[in-house]
Amino acid sequence: MPDRQPPDEGTLPALHAALTLQIDAGADEAIGEQSVNRLTLSAPTAEKFRQDRSTPESGTDLDARRESRPRNPIRLESTDATVSTAQEIARAAQSLEALEAAVRAFNGCPLKNTAMNTVFSDGAPEGPVMLIGEAPGAEEDKEGKPFVGASGQLLDKMLAAIGLNRREHAYITNIVFWRPPGNREPSASETAVCRPFLERHIELKKPSILVFLGGPSAKTMLNRTEGITRLRGRWFDFCTPTMAEMEAAPIPAMPLFHPAYLLRSSLKKRDAWRDLLAIKDKLDAHETHAPIAREVARMEA
Ligand code: URA
Repeated sequence: MPDRQPPDEGTLPALHAALTLQIDAGADEAIGEQSVNRLTLSAPTAEKFRQDRSTPESGTDLDARRESRPRNPIRLESTDATVSTAQEIARAAQSLEALEAAVRAFNGCPLKNTAMNTVFSDGAPEGPVMLIGEAPGAEEDKEGKPFVGASGQLLDKMLAAIGLNRREHAYITNIVFWRPPGNREPSASETAVCRPFLERHIELKKPSILVFLGGPSAKTMLNRTEGITRLRGRWFDFCTPTMAEMEAAPIPAMPLFHPAYLLRSSLKKRDAWRDLLAIKDKLDAHETHAPIAREVARMEA
């Protein structure tokens, strides 16, 4: 490692500004001792650099955390073709475990190229509530689990306030399985290629109630254009195309403010509390009616 002199006082503001610029652009991890201007590398050098970067330095922390990223991501001609492939793969999955393996093996979402881990789900697969967030953040990407950062902690408190927890009642996933760089909102094509897996996820999980966390999740799942302020607190009937085809009963679904938004806007917690109570009421009613529904199903069988 070259000897380093501490920067002199005069250059500190410029260094600080350069670092801020990178953080604003989404950089959240120092991965090299020296910066590399890839735009000035000649083609063979760039190729060598890529090879060096993709050769795992065994034993490093980064390597231990990074899942097998697609070295040669499959590039299909169009989003439509990728969506069709995703539909075929997702439909073939007959269990949550098979679906998770299929998602992990799927290379059709470009977000996988920059993420460290696939974030599939967390919580109780048998629980009555399925919560769907937007996308993994930095913490989730590192751990490979949804909602483990600050917003996850608030989410756990919100669930606890109505007597729910991840161990027994709540099952959590996101509309995309990989972290978008810089925590930007997932694009329409990224959500489109993940959607077949998400729909199959819901079909296999069979929750009693769905909760969409935040605007991007609610708008994507319900195909609506209104913002979360208009959508939250309302019940919608959710059906995947396969459920509609089979005339399966729709699943009651409620959009809720995203916990990350509530961390910034405490005043909205009052609305969120009202919505949580509505979710609790719906769950209680479901539990009360479940034995009757089971008996009707038994008699009809
Ligand atoms: N925000 C989300 O929407 N999902 C996560 O998994 C974490 C934060």
